[in-house]
Amino acid sequence: MIIIEPSILSADFARLGEAAKEAEVAGVRAIQIDVMDGRFVPNINFGPGVVSALRPLVKITLDVHLMIVEPERYLGVFAEAGADRIIVHQEACVNVHRALETIRELGIEAGVTINPGTPLNAIEEVLDIADFIQIMTVNPGFGGQKFIHSQLDKIRRLRRILNERSSHIPIAVDGGVDTTTAPLVVNAGATVLVAGSSVYNSSGTVAENVNALIKSIHL
Ligand code: DX5
Repeated sequence: MIIIEPSILSADFARLGEAAKEAEVAGVRAIQIDVMDGRFVPNINFGPGVVSALRPLVKITLDVHLMIVEPERYLGVFAEAGADRIIVHQEACVNVHRALETIRELGIEAGVTINPGTPLNAIEEVLDIADFIQIMTVNPGFGGQKFIHSQLDKIRRLRRILNERSSHIPIAVDGGVDTTTAPLVVNAGATVLVAGSSVYNSSGTVAENVNALIKSIHL
């Protein structure tokens, strides 16, 4: 089962509530809320207030991607705000193992992600305590960036490791996912496609764009 997970980073910031509802009506199971602190990534945007504002509007999973240094400081705050899953960057954590354990102790799903320049073995020791693994296929900070094809091999290696462990943890891919790159990442073993600018754009509705991504995979 391949899941499309729209990222609201590319939605109209003046209409985030409608953007979230549009995604729910389009039938997606989750949206990703990209949180940026201007230090871990060269951009600043959403905070816990956006999560709490969206929480009452939709029932779908609110997946919070923390692109902030020392995310351990804000796990409780985002869980309190209504996050169903928190994804932390291995590179940003003082102790990623403890961070994932803490997220689970908060009663929500624990996700871990790594940037294109970070080797897969940086997260190998926490695969058993993660509920969701996300491979970045752009250097994080902005939507609409170019897909980094070298990450396909990393996805393939991660899929091999999880298969060897008979693990069914989802492999998400985030960054530059569109109708051209979607089939590539699925063939490499990804099961969740995080997509921002290919879902929220002026050339189609969210439903049309999500369906185009799904179609591109089954061609
Ligand atoms: C980090 C963000 C983006 C976003 C997806 O920059 O995490 O990757 O979710 O943006 P697109 O799909 O437009 O590359």
